[in-house]
Amino acid sequence: MNQDLQDIWYDMERHVAACTRCPLSQSRRQPVMGRGSLQGGFLLIAEAPGVQEDRQGMPFVGRSGEILDRLLQDCGLSREEIYITNIIKCHPPGNRDPKEEEKEACFPYLKYETFLLKPRVIVCLGRVAAQRIISPDFKITRQHGAWVYRKGCALTATYHPSAILRDPSKYEAAKGDFCEAARKLAGHAVGT
Ligand code: URA
Repeated sequence: MNQDLQDIWYDMERHVAACTRCPLSQSRRQPVMGRGSLQGGFLLIAEAPGVQEDRQGMPFVGRSGEILDRLLQDCGLSREEIYITNIIKCHPPGNRDPKEEEKEACFPYLKYETFLLKPRVIVCLGRVAAQRIISPDFKITRQHGAWVYRKGCALTATYHPSAILRDPSKYEAAKGDFCEAARKLAGHAVGT
């Protein structure tokens, strides 16, 4: 493990733990920093911590985490090899969509995570992440699994695990997108 990288990550975690950049700091139980491998080159970006994540301080520990683990496993990956984070680090009350000002206030943390990780592949989970990271008019149903390339990194988006919980017929499409992302990572096939 690269100790310098890990130390910088711990510094950032301390900043996030004390963050008061938006009003969610008043209602959260605890912020939820991203977790996983800083060196795997694979970054998953979701929306916001849910109730379980707010309680436990870790991303994807609830039911949608079980779907995520199945998707990873079906494509030969595990949580230890990937890094998963959210657009905003604090749970929005009632699981509502994050507000623009919350996304803006939290964006420096995501930028910093991305800078540390230098991912070769980024997968956005769901509309909120895809519209913030790939394009403001991104439509998951029509555009999931499409790839764009920026600065040597391949980016795509797929269904959010909670959308799969609501409609399990989306699982196979998400699995196809994840497996393609795993292939890109293995082949370092950026730009192809
Ligand atoms: N949903 C998300 O978008 N992020 C989590 O961490 C958990 C559920």
